[in-house]
Parts: sequence; C-alpha cells; structure tokens
Amino acid sequence: MDHFEYRNGILHCESVDLVDLAGRHGTPLYVYSRQTILDHYGRLATAFAEVDPWLCFSIKSCGNLSILKLLRQQGCAFDVVSGGEVRRALEAGADPARIVFAGVGKSDEEINHALDVGVGYFNVESEAEMDNLASRAAAAGKTASAALRVNPDVDPKTHVYTTTGKRETKFGVDVERARNVFKTFHGRKGLNLDAIHLHIGSPVNDVSAYVESITKGLRLIDDLRGDGYTIRSLNIGGGYGADYETDQAPPAMQYAGAIVPLLRGHDLKILLEPGRTIMGNAGVLLCRTLYTKASGDKQFVIVDGSMTELIRPCLYGAFHFVWPVAPAGGLVPPQRSATLRLDGTRLVDVVGPVCESSDFLARERYLPPMERGDLLCVFTAGAYGMVMASQYNSRPRPAEVLIEGSAARVIRRRETYDDLVEAERLD
Ligand SMILES: Cc1ncc(COP(=O)(O)O)c(C=O)c1O
Repeated sequence: MDHFEYRNGILHCESVDLVDLAGRHGTPLYVYSRQTILDHYGRLATAFAEVDPWLCFSIKSCGNLSILKLLRQQGCAFDVVSGGEVRRALEAGADPARIVFAGVGKSDEEINHALDVGVGYFNVESEAEMDNLASRAAAAGKTASAALRVNPDVDPKTHVYTTTGKRETKFGVDVERARNVFKTFHGRKGLNLDAIHLHIGSPVNDVSAYVESITKGLRLIDDLRGDGYTIRSLNIGGGYGADYETDQAPPAMQYAGAIVPLLRGHDLKILLEPGRTIMGNAGVLLCRTLYTKASGDKQFVIVDGSMTELIRPCLYGAFHFVWPVAPAGGLVPPQRSATLRLDGTRLVDVVGPVCESSDFLARERYLPPMERGDLLCVFTAGAYGMVMASQYNSRPRPAEVLIEGSAARVIRRRETYDDLVEAERLD
C-alpha cells in the first residue's frame, strides 16, 4: 500500500520518524514517500507493459515540480488541464510532444500557448472547441493533433462530483455525435483528428466500468475506421483507485488484466492518465492538536490542519483514515478502516480552525485519546491534497517534504504572511 508504517509505536515515512520531522518543519505538513511513488508507478507500468502505453501523469492530482521531475525521470508523459499545468510540465523538463492537454474550457491564450510550445495532443471536448483549435492552429501555420473526448455514458459508481463519463456531465461528446464530428472536421486545415479520449471518473474501483467504456470506445473506432478515417490512438483516461482503506483499490494488475485483452490487435497507440493511483498513498498530511473539547455529547479534536489544506472531506464527503502519529498506549492501527474501533479509543470528530461547519477532516471516528500538542496523520492525502489547498481565512499554504530513505527534502516551502499579501501590494 505505502511506506508509512508504525515502528515502535511511532509513525515513520520510509526511515524518517514523523514526530521528529513535524518538530523540524512544523505543521500542517505534507509528507511524500519517494519509494511509494516509484512503487505505484512501477506497478502500473509493469501491468500495462504489453500495450507499451504512454503513462501520462495527471498533474491535477499533484503538481509539485520535484514530484513531476521524479516521474519524468521514470519515463512519464503528462496530462494537463490548464496553461498553468503546461507550465509545470515544461518546468519539470517534460518533452512537449508527450503532453496531452484536456479540459472542457481551454481559453484562446491557453490554446495559442500550447500550440506554440508544441503539446502532443489536444483532448478536445466539443465541436466549438475543435473549430477554435483548428482555426488557431491554421492561423499559426501549424497542425494540431487532436483526440475527440467521447462521453461513453458509463456509470463509474463513484461520487457524483467526480463522475465524468455519464451523459448528463459536461465532459466530451456523446458517442452518437462523435461520427459527425469526424465528418465535419476530417481534413480541416490546421487539424489532425486521429484519436479518441475516454475518462469516466475518479476513483473507479469497479474494473467493469472501464471494460464497458473501452468496449464502447473500440466499437466507435471500428465504425470510424469503417467510415474511412485513420485512428491512431486511444486514451483510456485515469481514475484508477488508491487505498483510502486497506486493500480498497484493485491492484494495477487487476485493471490491466481486464483492460489489456480488450486492446490487443487494434493497432492503436494507448495512453493512460493516472494520477491518484500513483500519488494517493504516497502522501500524508500531518497536523498538530490545538485543543480538545466536548460539546453536548460530542467530542472534538481541533487540529491545525483544515479544509484549506485538504478539502476532500468537505467537498466530497471523502473518507481519509486518520490516526495519531504516536498513539497513546501504543495503540497502533492493525488496518486502515472507516469502522476501526479498538479498545481504549473514543468517538471524536477531527476538525480544523476554519470558520465553516464543513471544516472537518474526519467525523465519528474511534481514536486513541488525544491531547493538546499531539500529532495526527491524515493518510492517503498525496492526490488532490496540496493541489486543492487554498489561502481561505488567510491561511498560508503548508510546506511539502519528500522523503527518500532517511533523508527529508523540502520540496515546497511553507508560505508566509508576506506571500498572502504580495500580489495585492500594487502601489
Ligand atoms: C481527463 C482526466 N484524466 C485523468 C484524471 C486523473 O484521475 P485520477 O487521478 O483519478 O487518475 C482526471 C481527473 O479528474 C481527468 O479529469
């Protein structure tokens, strides 16, 4: 699952004692395990090796430059959704030709810039965007490689806010309209439309949802080829799971075992856009207890981390396992589970200092007794954690530290109060 383990009652990341680390770098603090990143990337690469795919790391899940560089060194391509993410990919040394650019609302500036730097593929989500891309590319004397994002109308059985491949969502073009899009745009100056893109949601722990979506995608590709169009590649998207609870997500081999046989013999370049499955388990958020209090019959643990560092619980009601870094009485969790209830624990809500009732990290959990000053770890926070951090309530964003064995390296410094006001000092 990952390299966050209790040793002698204290949580370690690889060989680093997280009580020491929090003492040195302060809290709230994001901590990433380099070995966990490499393990998850490696498992995915091995599982899908037969189809020799481009693994396009989804920068939206974790955009830290040091992590992007690490993944680039492993051979990763990149999936981006904004001009800012193009910038991050380039700054991490990505080959622009191995960047794929998705998103329903690319601005003219973003398209021009992406054409300028030569991104490999535009994943186009509407006829209007296709038209705009073709015109801009033609005006610049370029030819844009485009994939049509198709909405396969498949239920990924995940949170409604992260469901993207159902007909009623804003993403892509429905299968029925896709053939028409090819008819309209085939041979259009400035455009080389020769690929299909699918992404049904995240996290998708039901492998059969991929089977259904890819089967629909391949059927469409057969039809398009039958209509005389050349289709060179199929991007099957991201969404592969992470272990928020122990063994919750299918292993990479299970996804590949169902998906790879579908892809054999189709003469297609395959692309994947994984984010969470590589980074989710590779990061945690460390917080320190500020106060504890009772209110009515509820017990609250108030920590210095909040929805501004990790918004997923507030935004999606997402579950993150939480546990003290050095639990009282040596109460080490035997597994990470929403229903874990050990003797000696008590029922609490873990909340942050932000002035919103939705500012919670965990609700109704049985935790070992916690006191002011105790450290708490929020697990599986490496994806959609720091990238969604905000300065709401004028809270400086936290630092990020990357662990390699016994070495800890700051890969993003903690923001300061000066950072909060810098962009507004205009006189
Ligand atoms: C188009 C696209 N590709 C890939 C991803 C990455 O998803 P995940 O991090 O779950 O792999 C997303 C996430 O929303 C996405 O929208």
